[in-house]
Amino acid sequence: MTAVPEPAARRRPEVVIRRLDALSARRHLDDLADLLVDSVEGGASVSFVAPLAHYEARDWFAGVLNEMDLGRRVVLAAFLEDRLVGCVQLVLSWQSNATHRAEVQKMLVHRSARRLGVGARLMKQLETEARALGRTLLILDTETGSDAEHLYAHMGWVKVGVIPDYAMRPDRSRLRPTSLWYRQLD
Ligand SMILES: CC(C)(COP(=O)(O)OP(=O)(O)OC[C@H]1O[C@@H](n2cnc3c(N)ncnc32)[C@H](O)[C@@H]1OP(=O)(O)O)[C@@H](O)C(=O)NCCC(=O)NCCS
Repeated sequence: MTAVPEPAARRRPEVVIRRLDALSARRHLDDLADLLVDSVEGGASVSFVAPLAHYEARDWFAGVLNEMDLGRRVVLAAFLEDRLVGCVQLVLSWQSNATHRAEVQKMLVHRSARRLGVGARLMKQLETEARALGRTLLILDTETGSDAEHLYAHMGWVKVGVIPDYAMRPDRSRLRPTSLWYRQLD
């Protein structure tokens, strides 16, 4: 059977996903900080209000390195032609009754690289990493009605409820609800 080439409009650029160790994350601290600043500027609710200075974002990521070293946090980065355009983190629950559980945090794709499948690739790979670590129940929360909710629904996550007035909008205009999601891996 002859392969039919995908129409150019639907062809997606090749995304490379890498798990960062603390050393490589340190090398990419500026890129990771750029991602966080870009998301906050774009109005995403990801723990910070605007304006977020680059050094503040860098400091936050620097704080994560220690947890990576201790094996408590997994960080994946997505590259498009060697440019870091996305990241996501898996925080492993420490409780002795929850060694099967982990929380997904800071799923970020640069505004210039959205709707190219980067977020989906990051999530798929994160699920693979989680399974390999025996973490079969994943949880997360995200602003109700955000773009991210579409991604999680697309990836088979289940929404369980909404908490009102959870976090301030990045522009400080009002409090917004958050939605809680989970996914059970086979
Ligand atoms: C949410 C986010 C990570 C999505 O990343 P992305 O790389 O653009 O997502 P993908 O291209 O992989 O999308 C995969 C699918 O998810 C859904 N989806 C993703 N973004 C969507 C949007 N803005 N509107 C509707 N559906 C969307 C679609 O089904 C999409 O498939 P399609 O493009 O074939 O229709 C990105 O918008 C982002 O970084 N937002 C700001 C940060 C943020 O809010 N993070 C979540 C914190 S919990």
